[in-house]
Amino acid sequence: MYILLMGPPGAGKGTQAAKLVDRFSIPHISTGDIFRAAVKEGTELGRQAKKFMDSGQLVPDSVTIGIVKERLAKSDCQSGFILDGFPRTLEQATALDATLGELGVKLDRVVNITATDNELVRRITGRRICKGCSATYHVTLNSPTVSGKCDKCGGELFQRADDQEETVIKRLNVYQVQTEPLIGYYRSKGLYAEIDGLQSIDKVLEKVIDSLRGDRT
Ligand code: AP5
Ligand code: MG
Ligand code: ZN
Repeated sequence: MYILLMGPPGAGKGTQAAKLVDRFSIPHISTGDIFRAAVKEGTELGRQAKKFMDSGQLVPDSVTIGIVKERLAKSDCQSGFILDGFPRTLEQATALDATLGELGVKLDRVVNITATDNELVRRITGRRICKGCSATYHVTLNSPTVSGKCDKCGGELFQRADDQEETVIKRLNVYQVQTEPLIGYYRSKGLYAEIDGLQSIDKVLEKVIDSLRGDRT
């Protein structure tokens, strides 16, 4: 199954991707996660990406496209993947088409999870992530059993550097201007499905899975 998860910052792409990994046993490829790992490791990629991420801007296509191309060529992608947060520009989308063509692979579905701006801000500013296993929580909407500790591994929870309200507003704007046009791109290819993200995490998952079975909007 070759799945592309779209949606504004905080819509629940990462949350749903983690559940789809359990369900389909295919890799979750998040460009945001790749950049954050590079920042943590202090690599040249991390150094380049950090200034864009911290200001809520997109990392340039010239950097991002090559990273994804390399990742999709790895053997674990042979039976499918969940792409999260890529593509985010039309240039990235056409580059992805070319890469998939070279690999002889076709996307099965592009799933866009939607939510209102108020809810996105609420979700992102309350988000907490595990330092150990990267599991995602929310201080009120999806809280761990013990405050500040991961249910899965006991790791400490932290807040992402770009999750301050001021940066979130910029990210939402960048999404509207640079990424929303991709809706038309994938709709015209007959791959697009839209899911109302203003439902419980489990309900959204159910709808995502329905859309993968063939239901379209
Ligand atoms: P990235 O890491 O991709 O961030 P994003 O797109 O802004 O999305 P988020 O990860 O913030 O949200 P999400 O949809 O995954 O939500 P989550 O599941 O965590 O990108 C970060 C940066 O990297 C970019 O700004 C850019 O600089 C750079 N970058 C990345 N990709 C790039 C690309 N292709 N090109 C250029 N630059 C790129 O959920 C959010 C919160 O809500 C959590 O707390 C969760 O518990 C809660 N929640 C989830 N679902 C629900 C629900 N149904 N009900 C209640 N709460 C919920
Ligand atoms: Mg995410
Ligand atoms: Zn953990």
